[in-house]
Amino acid sequence: MWYNTASAKKIGIQYPILQGPFGGNLSSVRLVAAVSNAGGLGGYGAYTHTPQEIFSLDREIRASTGKPYNLNLWVSDVDNSGSATDGQYAQTAKLFQPYFDEVGIPLPEKPAPFQSRFENQLQAVLDIRPKVFSYLFGTLSPDIHEQCRKRGIVTAGAATTLDEALALEASGVDMIIASGFEAGGHRPSFLDTPESSLTGTFVLVQLIREKVKAPVIAAGGIATGAGIKAAMQLGADAVQIGTAFLACEESNAPPIHRELLFSDRAKYTTLTRAFTGRLGRGLTNRISKEMSGRESGFLPFPLQSQFMSDLRKSAMEQEKWDLILFWGGQIAPLLKHRKAGELMQSLVEEAGKNLIS
Ligand SMILES: Cc1cc2nc3c(=O)[nH]c(=O)nc-3n(C[C@H](O)[C@H](O)[C@H](O)COP(=O)(O)O)c2cc1C
Repeated sequence: MWYNTASAKKIGIQYPILQGPFGGNLSSVRLVAAVSNAGGLGGYGAYTHTPQEIFSLDREIRASTGKPYNLNLWVSDVDNSGSATDGQYAQTAKLFQPYFDEVGIPLPEKPAPFQSRFENQLQAVLDIRPKVFSYLFGTLSPDIHEQCRKRGIVTAGAATTLDEALALEASGVDMIIASGFEAGGHRPSFLDTPESSLTGTFVLVQLIREKVKAPVIAAGGIATGAGIKAAMQLGADAVQIGTAFLACEESNAPPIHRELLFSDRAKYTTLTRAFTGRLGRGLTNRISKEMSGRESGFLPFPLQSQFMSDLRKSAMEQEKWDLILFWGGQIAPLLKHRKAGELMQSLVEEAGKNLIS
């Protein structure tokens, strides 16, 4: 059967369909459980969580599903050592002042320096032993991969180029997520800038498949059974689907976010650094358009997110949707399902039809 793939066997799931983990509080235990209970692999993005929060999250997930699930972290969660100069802050403040004026709130203070949380989070993952640990924005040492293997944790690392896939393989990762530029969310490049690592999912899958032995998981632009079939025909062993699951009612996306993913606005997406400091894809809005080309005036990640958070809050309250980044990928106009179970069922049915063998 089409779904008996190496990665499905390795993870112990029925269908090689991974629900893409979402950072920034958009993941939910409900969504993870719905997908894992339907035979796929639910995923939770925990890069903003403290180790204690990760422990209690794991307890909640295990109470909702006895099936395997994926815990996800960012290997690199801070740029420029997590600090900005007064000069940088002054530049950002000047650029974004009109938007803060528009919603009638003062500019925030300069964000305090930020320290990476990854090392402590990683220890929590090793202690918890989720069936799958996926990560992005870097590689892990062979020793960490070995520790995961000994604990029965299957690892998956994200690549946006063939070079990144080769670096991940050399470090001993179990599976490689080929993350094409169509995808919603941040571009997880780590060897070169994301702007110069914009390969589409289908090219990336084929390039990686040819040079790397580890199973390849296609991520970006897949939301239907036809997409799954096409990716597998090109050599993917599994798929990771984000935007289509984000739009389901079980995700933690606010109702307006889910609504917009089904609206006409979803036809237009943009890669922008304006909201977090790192390049990511969301529905095109006024800020992403007006701030294009002004990236040198933004704060480094995650300070730019902190700088923008009051603006987002006020814009949400005032329903000024054009000032908010609603994450989403290029495939959004094809979305049909609002429940994760129904989405899973339709993916499995469609993928099972006429798979070219
Ligand atoms: C809102 C949002 C947040 C995301 N956050 C993460 C994350 O924290 N970690 C991760 O590995 N992938 C993250 N992704 C990527 C997804 O897991 C998945 O690979 C991607 O969405 C697949 O492309 P698609 O959106 O075209 O389906 C995120 C995607 C979105 C839309």
